[in-house]
Amino acid sequence: MACLRGYLRGVTLTIPDPSLVLLIGPSGAGKSTFAARHFEPTEIISSDALRAMLTNDPSDQDASAEAFRVLSMLANGRLKRRLLTVIDATNLRVGSRKQFRQLAARYGIPTVAVAFDLPAEVFAVHNRQRPDRAVDAEVLADQTERMRDAMADLPTEDYNALFVLRDTAAGTTVAVDRVSRPRLASSVVPTKRRPAPSQRTLEQ
Ligand code: GTP
Ligand code: MG
Repeated sequence: MACLRGYLRGVTLTIPDPSLVLLIGPSGAGKSTFAARHFEPTEIISSDALRAMLTNDPSDQDASAEAFRVLSMLANGRLKRRLLTVIDATNLRVGSRKQFRQLAARYGIPTVAVAFDLPAEVFAVHNRQRPDRAVDAEVLADQTERMRDAMADLPTEDYNALFVLRDTAAGTTVAVDRVSRPRLASSVVPTKRRPAPSQRTLEQ
């Protein structure tokens, strides 16, 4: 796979098209806001939206297993068609991120991680401010702790690019530049030959 570097120019995230974009952050991080701002609705697969479709309640955790099965099927269907796909979920589990990277690699599609590494109080404030729903303080504390673990793990995981947003308003102030990526001769690329991930940290 070609070495995909230089993803950050100033405050612009350069994202290859197609790619699999994993948004990573606790509830209230601004993932859905960021996704809606920069991508088409059909490009975004949201675990909340799928839970809502299954139960009418986006936060119904009893439907999570089913929601993620549907999410994986949709991601697979889009990636095999070489369509840019954004996973709007917390993506705080190592194993879940690995499964997504493996899915993209199966089709020779690069994976880009966008991590919302914001202060814990920002997650809480955003949650309090939101008009629709807020997660429990206990759940948020657990997610915040898992985000700390994720920030330690992400640089060791095999991404084509890792962007870390550290400004509280980063989700609404950064720009996204999509760069078309020509199809390779073979759609199956040996993952062992992938280059080391490039990491860019965004601090405004
Ligand atoms: P979950 O879906 O619960 O995981 O949260 P999320 O990460 O998708 O957060 P979402 O985008 O829904 O944002 C939560 C709240 O924070 C919303 O009310 C947004 O309007 C607000 N918000 C998101 N990003 C920003 C930002 O950059 N600046 C400010 N001021 N508010 C933001
Ligand atoms: Mg959301």
